[in-house]
Amino acid sequence: MAEHIFSGISLPAIFVAIVAFFLVRRIYWEVTEGASQKRLAKESGCQPVYRWQHKGVLGYFFGYDVMKENFVAGKAGRFHENARLRNWQNHKTIQVRNFNRDFIMTIEPENVKALLGTKFPDFGLGNLRISTMSPVFGQGIFTSDGKAWEHSRAMIRPSFTKQQVGDLSSYEHHVNNMMAHIPKDGQTVDLQELFFKLTMDSATEFLFGKSTNTLVPGQEQKGATRFTDAFTYVTERMSRDFRTARLSRFLPDKKRVEDSEFIRKFASDIVDEAIAQQEDIEKGVGEERRNYTFLFELLKVTRDPYILRSETLNVLLAGRDTTASLLSHTFFELARRPDVWAKLQAEIDQLGGQAPDYETMKSMKYVKWVLNESLRLWPVVPGNTRIAVRDTVLPLGGGPDEKSPILVPKGTPVGYSVWSMHRRKDFYGEDALQYKPERWEKLRPGWEYLPFNGGPRICIGQNFALTEASYTMIRLLQHFKRIEPRDDKPWTEFQTLTLAIGNGVKVGLYPN
Ligand code: HEM
Repeated sequence: MAEHIFSGISLPAIFVAIVAFFLVRRIYWEVTEGASQKRLAKESGCQPVYRWQHKGVLGYFFGYDVMKENFVAGKAGRFHENARLRNWQNHKTIQVRNFNRDFIMTIEPENVKALLGTKFPDFGLGNLRISTMSPVFGQGIFTSDGKAWEHSRAMIRPSFTKQQVGDLSSYEHHVNNMMAHIPKDGQTVDLQELFFKLTMDSATEFLFGKSTNTLVPGQEQKGATRFTDAFTYVTERMSRDFRTARLSRFLPDKKRVEDSEFIRKFASDIVDEAIAQQEDIEKGVGEERRNYTFLFELLKVTRDPYILRSETLNVLLAGRDTTASLLSHTFFELARRPDVWAKLQAEIDQLGGQAPDYETMKSMKYVKWVLNESLRLWPVVPGNTRIAVRDTVLPLGGGPDEKSPILVPKGTPVGYSVWSMHRRKDFYGEDALQYKPERWEKLRPGWEYLPFNGGPRICIGQNFALTEASYTMIRLLQHFKRIEPRDDKPWTEFQTLTLAIGNGVKVGLYPN
């Protein structure tokens, strides 16, 4: 059949037709989109952005050189630091080739401010994020844009009032459960493992009204450990998808499929039970709930099981790994810095062993500096990306001095490295790479400090996280007076959707 159709057409004719097709397409683009981009660039005084000098033909066309280097560094747990040393020695904004498209990368706070704040409507999350995350996380606050995102945010905002977040009684319970797992004679323990369990137990109580209780032997919710492990596995695979422009999805991964299904089912069962419980309450046959629960707050707005599952899984993702990472990095540093530990102890000792209330905790200066510094040097979300939804302009990065605006054509991804921005010596001084809480006495950073993001999509759980982390840290230091590091391996990253420590936080703790 095909032979019959093409029998009268010569190969050169086909070649000419193809060339003509691309030529016409290009001319059409030049007079439509291209012309309007040129106009915008001219009106805004844009200059070309520095184009990365890729190596080899594959590098030039597909960015293979950089992708390969990223992959190798990622495997060695050095992705972010390697990218910092490679990209930002002489530049603050660059354009790199990434598989089939150009990527703009920046560590310029003014650009990040435009991306997330002043030009917020010009950028979206992009398909890569949504298609990677939605098979597990459905349509929730992390996987939606525009009106759907506004709706999500409005729906979950009431759960983050000071009244809900400031209720410390449930933290106390979970911190005590965790403390029971820490040997009192200085035997080695991995705190990171415990912090992940702690934040899973407390987040599930806040979200579902029922804790996974992974820290309470014999009372663990059925399937909770499998759920936790599956969550870690799947989010680590998602992070690989992001780094490889989703090429990794072509590798068969049965575990990922099974774990994703397990996560959905685990959350769906809880949601179904909550819907049934709420219906009983409304019929007057169920018991009124006493404690505040995120899921029951959502039930006032919707009974759609898919939306309820998506939003709770999204907030679980946001709330669990993040706070565990902050606590892990803080104790990683504390174990290596007796001077910081001593100053922290001195401030905490003023509580006389009493559990702090919300207001007291907020007034503890050194506690705050320590957490600020952990989030600076070890940002939980070390890098992020947005995609231009229309032709737009960023204020810096153009021309030889990188001080002119740059054009960002519709569809271009713009990545920003919080990791590298937080390590800039021109902002933080020559000692930028050192862990130094005291710098926060004078430091009042703007967009160059961005652990919780900025603009309309700023982290909604910031206060929740800082309250939980401060409380846990204070209670631990009230019980333990001495800490020792128990491994001398250098820090490596364990990157899921957030940043954890490759070797964990192995320490010995002593009550006196
Ligand atoms: C140290 C702890 C935390 C850090 C460093 C952190 C950081 C961030 C960052 C960087 C984002 C922006 C992500 C993006 O737009 O791509 C974000 C968003 C968000 N965070 Fe957090 N987070 C933390 C803890 C929490 C907690 C405990 C919760 C809730 C219990 C939470 C809830 C959220 C939500 C719902 C969003 C999405 C906001 C939106 O898109 O409108 N976060 N967080």
